[in-house]
Amino acid sequence: MKTAVQEELHQPIAIKDLPIPQPQAGELCIELKASALNHRDVWVQKGKYPGMNLPCTLGSDGAGVVVSAGSESEENWLGKEVVINPGMNWGDNEAVAGKGFEILGMPRNGTFSEFIVMPVEYVHEKPAHLSFEEAAALPLAGVTAYRAMFTKAGLTKDKRVLITGIGGGVALTALVFAKALGCEIYVTSGSDVKLQRAKELGANGGINYKEEKWAKSLSKSAGLFDVVIDGAGGEGFSGLIDASNLAANLVIYGGTAGNIGGILAAKIFFKQVNIMGSTMGSPTDFKNMLALVNTHKISPVIDEVMPLDNAEDALRKMEAGKQFGKIVLKHN
Ligand SMILES: NC(=O)c1ccc[n+]([C@@H]2O[C@H](COP(=O)([O-])OP(=O)(O)OC[C@H]3O[C@@H](n4cnc5c(N)ncnc54)[C@H](OP(=O)(O)O)[C@@H]3O)[C@@H](O)[C@H]2O)c1
Repeated sequence: MKTAVQEELHQPIAIKDLPIPQPQAGELCIELKASALNHRDVWVQKGKYPGMNLPCTLGSDGAGVVVSAGSESEENWLGKEVVINPGMNWGDNEAVAGKGFEILGMPRNGTFSEFIVMPVEYVHEKPAHLSFEEAAALPLAGVTAYRAMFTKAGLTKDKRVLITGIGGGVALTALVFAKALGCEIYVTSGSDVKLQRAKELGANGGINYKEEKWAKSLSKSAGLFDVVIDGAGGEGFSGLIDASNLAANLVIYGGTAGNIGGILAAKIFFKQVNIMGSTMGSPTDFKNMLALVNTHKISPVIDEVMPLDNAEDALRKMEAGKQFGKIVLKHN
């Protein structure tokens, strides 16, 4: 089977021919029709995670068809079109993942491969309205956006939401989720073109975070926000508190822009804003996310579909931040 393997740090990902893995009892073998990139894959290539285990097949997101089962009790899955939950061993505490939590695609071999074996508990039926490419674009970004917006921030239709760095996979998934709910949505981006595209997808407005005093301009033109979903951190985080309403819920799920600093404590306590950290989600978050997608017939935003052979080009495109939406790899 064709597989994209990260053999060494800081090296291009290599396309290899490996044997098809065989499922044991409790496992399924899935012929993956498509996979998708997350920023995590770029971070892994650069060795930015503890417990690096190379060589490893990268990729956390995938969708395909179940082709074999490890035992009779999983045979009801044969032939089903499925998506994979990449968040493994969450544990039994909904509030936070346990020590054994793992993300598919390092240390365990991931989805940039024609076949994968997964424990049956991480395999879910593909939303019927989605193609394999669309379904592959959903899992990691979807569960991260879902937990930040709903489990953590308690987003409802009547709330005004601000989503930062809208070109990102998680951010755009958050946009389509909030749109399905009917919320008023504003976004930030470092690109005016991406701001325009976000408006075409249903954002009410947006601002370029590279502009000086962007938070002041945004709150002047659009008002303050009840929910803020941020994947960047960095110097811009202070502006997010300025743009927050009283008692707003501000959720941070990523740190693309680096350390947060220089925040006046009084801004946080006088406004009584709730600043919350969030990660990917529990199995319950994943199921709820799929239910939301099925109920509202939501489709993730795809930037480009590339062949699996071009996995390295896809990783470099993601690193350069050139994408608007998910970069998907088609496997055959
Ligand atoms: N904690 C978790 O479990 C978890 C789960 C998923 C992701 N993450 C993290 O979340 C971040 C985003 O992930 P992703 O896969 O969505 O990445 P991605 O698709 O590569 O998106 C990154 C986005 O960050 C935005 N950005 C860059 N600098 C920014 C700044 N100064 N202010 C605001 N936005 C900025 C850019 O938006 P524009 O192009 O619009 O400027 C870019 O598109 C990554 O750091 C990732 O590691 C964490």
